[in-house]
Amino acid sequence: MKIVVINGTEIKGCTYHLKECFLNSLDGENTITEFYLPKDAPHFCCGCKTCFFKSENLCPHAKYIMPIWNAILAADLLVFTYPVYALHAPGQVKALLDHLCCHWMVHRPEKVMFKKRAVILTQSIGAPNGTAQKDVATSLTWMGVSSIKTLGFGLMEGVIWEELSEKRKQQMKLKIKKLASKYQNVKTVQKNLKVKMFFFMSKIMHKKTLKTEKQISADNQHWIEQGWLVK
Ligand SMILES: Cc1cc2nc3c(=O)[nH]c(=O)nc-3n(C[C@H](O)[C@H](O)[C@H](O)COP(=O)(O)O)c2cc1C
Repeated sequence: MKIVVINGTEIKGCTYHLKECFLNSLDGENTITEFYLPKDAPHFCCGCKTCFFKSENLCPHAKYIMPIWNAILAADLLVFTYPVYALHAPGQVKALLDHLCCHWMVHRPEKVMFKKRAVILTQSIGAPNGTAQKDVATSLTWMGVSSIKTLGFGLMEGVIWEELSEKRKQQMKLKIKKLASKYQNVKTVQKNLKVKMFFFMSKIMHKKTLKTEKQISADNQHWIEQGWLVK
């Protein structure tokens, strides 16, 4: 199985150890490609809109973003792992997601995204993880990913991995191993209702704009090339 891991922190702390536990619990022959943020995508989206109007290859940050995007496209399983910052995903994760907006269904979705599974693994000192997980889950859904599982922890005892009790670490590791047991093989994924609905709505929108635009937009050109829209 091809796995891409987006690490939302460069710190080799709690996020890192929980993620290692997940990866080490996967059997079989896996090819794992890992990115660490902010190192591997150090820039904010500057809002130039070149990706929307022309191509993502012309993004001023393409040299960082394209290797990540290409690894995502090639992977069977996407793993996003990050600590909760101020109840949300860390800014560096959001900065990467902003660069991927051009691949949302309202723009230029990729067919292969409909077949992928994703895991979002997070932790906080004690706050609920749901909002932070939603930050990534929302983007993935709009990119066409139907199978998204989340697992979040409140560390409770502190924020330094080495200082957590063995008991707490084992509790978390047990849950992670249980989650990992669902990802031992590549699985066929069907589009879920939400993705089907978003795709349908986007198709109607693209159909409408195609009628009115003087020059075919990059988005509509993509939809035509995919066979989703007739000129
Ligand atoms: C800037 C910053 C903001 C944080 N915000 C929260 C928060 O809102 N709620 C919470 O429970 N923990 C918060 N934490 C703790 C982290 O979620 C996490 O537990 C901690 O950074 C340990 O993870 P790490 O070793 O992977 O860095 C924050 C940590 C940092 C550095």
